[in-house]
Amino acid sequence: MPQILKGRDCRDMSKLLVLGISGSPRKGNSQFLLDKALEKARNVDPDSVKCVSYSIRGKKIGPCISCFRCADQEGECTIKDDFQELRDLWLKADVIIYSVPVYHMGIPGQVKCFIDRLGNTLFGRYRGIFDPGEDKLPKLLKVVGNVVQGVHLCAGQEHTLTNLINHTLVMQCIPVTGDMWHSYIGAGGWTSNNIDPKALEKQLTENNYDARIAVKSAQDIGKRAAELALLIRAGGHSRKRELSQDPIYKPFLDRIG
Ligand SMILES: Cc1cc2nc3c(=O)[nH]c(=O)nc-3n(C[C@H](O)[C@H](O)[C@H](O)COP(=O)(O)O)c2cc1C
Repeated sequence: MPQILKGRDCRDMSKLLVLGISGSPRKGNSQFLLDKALEKARNVDPDSVKCVSYSIRGKKIGPCISCFRCADQEGECTIKDDFQELRDLWLKADVIIYSVPVYHMGIPGQVKCFIDRLGNTLFGRYRGIFDPGEDKLPKLLKVVGNVVQGVHLCAGQEHTLTNLINHTLVMQCIPVTGDMWHSYIGAGGWTSNNIDPKALEKQLTENNYDARIAVKSAQDIGKRAAELALLIRAGGHSRKRELSQDPIYKPFLDRIG
């Protein structure tokens, strides 16, 4: 079992940083699938890949209050809560793997609060690297893999994945999927009408087919996300001279070192 670091300051420029975010307020099925994805991500190349697991459980991430002060204070959010901790990890990472439960056919509120605030504050944060008046976001080129599961079948899994893919694109990052046929646009599972936080884990031990598919697709997401990010990093290094002419790549180039 590869080591999965659980820490806040974990940047080592020589390694690819994979950040797993469990978007559930409990230690349940989302965390279970996330651990499976992270294990496979790290196994792509244990010497070059470092995984950090973060859970929103017990964290306070409030909603954006639309003050737009972040635009004038270099992207710093006025609200001080656990947003800053997760944002800092998010910014450092080369790969993000979201593993979230379906809530009301979409993403859970706390995850939505995080991505709303992330999106808006990044405009202010990066404004200084562009010419005045340009409302741009840099090409961050993080690879983002998405894993979702709900209690029911066809009960919002695709909407939730689409929400997360849209977030990925807006953040100038790259969505990755697993392999066909398990994973069309991300990993989507269901707990066979069971609200137990350990539902998928138990079903897997019983060799339940749907639980096996959920686990397999989460594993594929982790593997493909790490592979793609290593390719992007290598491409960034080989094209560094050309890319450094355009400020839009500055945060990406700074990140890969
Ligand atoms: C407020 C709330 C809304 C939910 N809405 C949905 C839903 O729309 N579709 C669905 O399939 N499951 C829904 N669920 C069930 C969870 O997605 C499901 O129990 C999931 O396995 C929980 O993941 P976790 O164990 O990581 O917390 C909802 C649960 C809660 C608490």
